[in-house]
Amino acid sequence: MSMDPIKTQTLGVCYYPEHWPEERWETDAKMMVEAGIEYVRIGEFAWSLMEPDPGQFDWDWLDRSFEVLHAHGLKVVLGTPTATPPKWLVDRMHDMLPVGADGTSRGFGSRRHYCFSHTGYREECARITTEMAKRYGDHPALAAWQTDNEYGCHNTVLSYSDAALAGFRDWLAQKYQSTDALNRAWGNVFWSMNYRSFDEIELPNGTVTQANPSHSLDFHRYSSDQVVAFNKLQSDIIRAHSRGRPVSHNYMGKFFDFDHYAVSEDLDIATWDAYPLGFLEREIGDEDLLKKYMGVGDPDFDPFHHDLYRACGQVRNGQENGRWWVMEQQPYGPLNWAGFNHSPRDGAGRLWVWEAFAAGAEVISFFRWRQPSFGQEQMHEGLLLPDGTPNEGYKLCKEIAKELKSLAPNPSQARADVALVFDYPSQWMMKYMPHGADASHFDSVLRYYRALRRAGLSVDIVPPTAAAISGRKAVFIPMLMGLTPEFIAALGASGAQIVAGPWTGAKDQNFAISEGMAPGPLQALIDIKIRRVETRRAFAPLDLENGGTLAGWREFVVIGDGVDVLENTKDGYPAVLRSGKVTYLAGRADASALDRLIRPILDTAGVDWIDLPEDIRVRDNGDLRFIFNYGRETVDLIQTFGNVTPAMGEMQIKPCGVTCLKVS
Ligand code: GAL
Repeated sequence: MSMDPIKTQTLGVCYYPEHWPEERWETDAKMMVEAGIEYVRIGEFAWSLMEPDPGQFDWDWLDRSFEVLHAHGLKVVLGTPTATPPKWLVDRMHDMLPVGADGTSRGFGSRRHYCFSHTGYREECARITTEMAKRYGDHPALAAWQTDNEYGCHNTVLSYSDAALAGFRDWLAQKYQSTDALNRAWGNVFWSMNYRSFDEIELPNGTVTQANPSHSLDFHRYSSDQVVAFNKLQSDIIRAHSRGRPVSHNYMGKFFDFDHYAVSEDLDIATWDAYPLGFLEREIGDEDLLKKYMGVGDPDFDPFHHDLYRACGQVRNGQENGRWWVMEQQPYGPLNWAGFNHSPRDGAGRLWVWEAFAAGAEVISFFRWRQPSFGQEQMHEGLLLPDGTPNEGYKLCKEIAKELKSLAPNPSQARADVALVFDYPSQWMMKYMPHGADASHFDSVLRYYRALRRAGLSVDIVPPTAAAISGRKAVFIPMLMGLTPEFIAALGASGAQIVAGPWTGAKDQNFAISEGMAPGPLQALIDIKIRRVETRRAFAPLDLENGGTLAGWREFVVIGDGVDVLENTKDGYPAVLRSGKVTYLAGRADASALDRLIRPILDTAGVDWIDLPEDIRVRDNGDLRFIFNYGRETVDLIQTFGNVTPAMGEMQIKPCGVTCLKVS
C-alpha cells in the first residue's frame, strides 16, 4: 500500500497511552476526534514496555492502542523507542553510555543515554526497529514513522567514549589514508603535534588548552556522520518492512551539532519541535526581546526553523514534493524546562499554528495530549489537564480545525525569490574558533533573516548547493566560512544579487585560512582581502557614515580592482563594498543598518519588499498572504495593504492576531 503525501493541512498530538489506564483510551480517542485531531504520535519512549525482558516482547498493549485509535479513524505516527534504552540493556552493555567532555560516563535514569558510535547499541536498535516494522508496518492505521526522538538532545552528539575513539580513528584513516596527509591537513607541525599512526590520535577533549581546531572540527564531522548512519540504519529497516509509510524525525530549535541536511537524505518528512516561549526564555539571550515578546515568542526564531526544516524536508524529495511538519508544538500553556515558564498571551497559540501552516507545514502536532501527574514533565501543560479535562490547548485545536475547513494554505510552498544560506560546518567552525565571544554562524544568519522578515519577505533557508540557489533573485551568504569552488561557480553563474556577510570564505576544508586569505574563493567574484578582524564589546559599536552601526565584528579590507566602496565607518574604514552583483558587508551590521543596506539591493534584484509596521510579519503562500501581529498594540493594516476585505481576520489586526488576504 502506498500513502499519498498529505494534500491538506491538519492537526496532530503526541500521546502516551501507556501513561493512562486502558479504560481511558476510548475517551481519549473520542475527544481527539472531537477536537479535530487526525494524527497521533505514540511509542517513542516505550522500549521497556515493548520488551520488558531481553527478547521477551509484549506488544499486546500497543496492539490495543492501535486498535482504539484506528477504530476512531485516527492515524498513527509510530516512534522507534531508541532514545530510551531499558535498564537491562544498559546493564548488559555499560559502555554504550555517552561520555561527556570531562571524560565522565553519563548514567541511566532519564533519556538519550547512548553513544551514537556504539556498534552494539546500533545492533540493538536495528533489532527493536525490525520487530516493530514487521509487526506494525502494514497496519491500516499506520500513517508514518518517527525514528528515535530529537537526536542530540541533552548534548549527546559529541560523546568521548571508547567506541567513539575507535570509530574516529577508523574514520580518519579512511579520510586521510596516511598520517602524513593528516598531519599536513591539520597543521600538526604547530606545537609539535605530529602523529606517526592513527592509533596515536586521541579525542579532542582533555587537552591542557584549546585542541587543534582542525582536530576538533574533524571529530565534529565524524560525530555528525554517526547520527546520519544511526538514522539511516532505522530508515532502511522501516522502508524494507513498511512500504509506502514515510519516515520522519523530529529536529530541535537552535540545535546544530549534526548536519540536518545530511540526516534528511534518509527522511521523507522533516519535522521539528517548536516551543516559542521556551526558546524565547532560554535561547535568545536578549533582555529587550524577552520583555517585548514575553508570552508570544520571538517573531523570527520559530519561523526561521520552519524555513530551515522545510529545506530539510526537500532534501530527499526535491522542492516540489518536500514535506515538513511541526511534530511537537507548545500546547498553548507553560512548559517545564525553561528558566521561567510563562503563559502564552491570548491568541498566541493560534498565531503559532497559522505561522507554521503558512510556511507549508502539513501537520501541526501538539505536545502533549494530557499533562502527566508523574515523572519529569509534570509541570508541562498538555491539551488536557492532569485530571483529563480540557485545557486551553484543547479548545484551540477545535478553533483551528474549524478555521482549516474554510481556509487551507498550500503544504508545499512556492519557491521564494530570496534564499538565505545556512550551513552546519560553518556553525561548527565558528564554535571552534569564534574570535568574538558572541559570534556564531547561526547568529549571523538569523540577523539577516530578521531583516528580510522585517521587509515583509518570505524566505527560503537553503544549504550551499547550486540547486538550492538556482533561479533566485537574491542570495544571502552571511558568515558562510567554508566556500567550495562548485558553490562559487554557481553563485557566479546565478544572476542573483549576492550579499556576503563578514567571514564568508574565510577557511578552507581543513579549517586553515583560505588561500589568498578571506574571503577566499569569493575573491573570484569580488576582489577584496580581509587583512584584519577585530571583535568588539557590545558597548563599543562603530557608527556607519549613513546610519546604524557595525557591532561586535569588524573587518579591515584591502580593496582590489573593480570594487566600489559604498560606505565607510565614521572612523574611516571601508564597510560596504560592491563589485558587480556582489555586495560585501565587512562587519556585523545592526538592525537599522541592515534594513537600510538590504532594501536597495532587493530593489535592484527586483524583489518587492514591504515597509511593515513594527512587530508585523508576513508570509506568502500561493495566493494567500498571512499577516501576523507579534506586538502588544492593534495595528491598522489598511495603510500598508490597502482597504481590502480579508479572507480571515481583520484589517485592524489585534495583538497576536492573524489576518489572511487573497492576493492575485
Ligand atoms: C521535547 C521532547 C519531548 C518533551 C518535550 C517537552 O524536547 O522531544 O519528549 O520532552 O521536549 O517540551
